[in-house]
Amino acid sequence: MAFDRVFLDELAARNDIVDIVSQYVQLKKSGANYFGLCPFHNEKTPSFSVSADKQIFHCFGCGAGGGVITFVMKAEGLEFPDAVRFLADKAGMQVPEQNEAERHAAHRRERLYALCKDAARFFYDTLWLPENRGVQQYFFSRGLHRRVMNRFGLGYAPDSFHALLDAMCAKGYTRDEMMEAGLVSQSEKGRVYDRFRNRVMFPIIDVRGNVIAFGGRVMDDSKPKYLNSPETPIFHKSRNLFALNLAKKTKSEYFILAEGYMDVIALHQAGFDSAVASLGTSLTEEQARIIARHTGQIVISYDADGAGQAAAQRAIDILKKCDLQVKVLKIPGAKDPDEFIREKGADAYRAIIERSENHNAYRLEQLAGKYDLEDDEARVLFLRDAARMLTGIESSIEREVYAGRAAKMAGVTAEAMKNEVGRELAIRRKRQKAQERRQIRSPVGQAQPKDRTLAYTDVRSAKAEENVLRLLFSDQPLIAEAERELPPAWFSAPVLRKIYERVLTLDRAGQIVDVLSFEGWIEPNEMSLLSAILEQGVPAGDHRREMTEYINTIRLQRVKDGTIRQADEDPLLTFGRIKNKMREDE
Ligand code: GTP
Ligand code: MN
Repeated sequence: MAFDRVFLDELAARNDIVDIVSQYVQLKKSGANYFGLCPFHNEKTPSFSVSADKQIFHCFGCGAGGGVITFVMKAEGLEFPDAVRFLADKAGMQVPEQNEAERHAAHRRERLYALCKDAARFFYDTLWLPENRGVQQYFFSRGLHRRVMNRFGLGYAPDSFHALLDAMCAKGYTRDEMMEAGLVSQSEKGRVYDRFRNRVMFPIIDVRGNVIAFGGRVMDDSKPKYLNSPETPIFHKSRNLFALNLAKKTKSEYFILAEGYMDVIALHQAGFDSAVASLGTSLTEEQARIIARHTGQIVISYDADGAGQAAAQRAIDILKKCDLQVKVLKIPGAKDPDEFIREKGADAYRAIIERSENHNAYRLEQLAGKYDLEDDEARVLFLRDAARMLTGIESSIEREVYAGRAAKMAGVTAEAMKNEVGRELAIRRKRQKAQERRQIRSPVGQAQPKDRTLAYTDVRSAKAEENVLRLLFSDQPLIAEAERELPPAWFSAPVLRKIYERVLTLDRAGQIVDVLSFEGWIEPNEMSLLSAILEQGVPAGDHRREMTEYINTIRLQRVKDGTIRQADEDPLLTFGRIKNKMREDE
């Protein structure tokens, strides 16, 4: 996605990174940089830095980093073009007309939205055909009323390999578009057929009201119970929540987070119109941030089984990171909220929400369940575990309240428990401080990128590659020379090579090489790595000479691994020659 560089320059000039970040993080100036608590992970001592002169941010703790647009993408959960629009709005700027490629991509997405909407319409119409009374009956037997079924756009995919295919072809959609939307599959022989067959259909709708995907359920016990759309250009399951399009309009102070489609629909039917679900996976941080944009309080209402409870524990951590007040619901005598409401009614559910426990109480109880509190030894272990858990509570008053509760559960004095918590707290703080200090002191101490998927296979070479890039960003006239001396194929780290190649391309086109020219062009994790590299800056010195040294190191590594082999020369000789040359240079 490319915006015009002149426009981006103006956008960046009018949205100084220090000003923008300050709207989210309290920054303090220290030396050339600003520091604050990282908004992207939990920490007590600031390891989040913003450089005004480089216009980048970088967190030594979690590794996140980038320019002002990347910051907005992460903080607001936006895609690159939307982050650009967000900043343009702030600065009162007009976003320029898109170029041909973008208009094309936008058009393609529009087609997919239209296709999914038409498919939803087809499933809906099919459901209400007289011959499909049995399917309608399935929904009714699960307690759903027609009104709520319509609100969720429920439908039915007939028992056919081509019913949808034919209907959408007749509307002018191509097979490719249907593949892209995940509505059809392809056999090994290349035959295309309907993905969803003989399933009741749950459209997945994004926050703006577009149908973007489907979940389809069998009506008997066959497997898989649910089939969901794959990831597509318009559907990213980690970034969407089922029913958010409805829940965002709620008047309720809290959101309810359930596990399944049916739970959410049953909840809405019972009047709980703030229920949402993550889409058949455990809750992601992105989903938590999205929730936090709509509410400050959340009630987790997962299935009663072990898997549901374990998922609730994980969800608590993720939601707490977004500063949400979290409560956890226990549903006595039912396997999930859907069943509970059907059997006991909406009032009973409301009552358990009102009695629902703060997540701390919930965790204490979960913990106590693991120990036999009649047994002295087990009691001691429980108290130690509980104390450790309670150290995670920020507020000292809250901590004391729950310490008191734990003491009561195990039959010891509140005083004794308080001491135990104090001791654990001291240990924890010390460890945390030490860890954060370590991270700040040695940003490159960890030679590997924070993101393991970018791990270097040849650290020595990769460090030299990083150093070359750092020089090129700070001293653009060096690029032409690098182009002569250092072929991209010599790079050992694919991500660094990708960056290097773009540096060369930009320079050849006479464009500026800076972080801004990479925003929206490389993946967020790659951007984090790039800003980690650039964050260090380049001291004054003979940059040309330094670069030659780094290139020599890289060449040496390539000779060692056999990438470079001079035709008439023994690799060992080449190796020796380069080594000697390096000595001479020093
Ligand atoms: P019902 O049995 O219809 O009440 O389903 P449920 O909504 O209560 O779902 P359940 O608690 O079994 O699972 C929770 C969610 O996990 C579902 O809504 C689906 O999104 C997802 N899920 C469940 N089973 C499957 C499966 O077999 N495959 C996939 N891909 N997802 C599933
Ligand atoms: Mn269920």
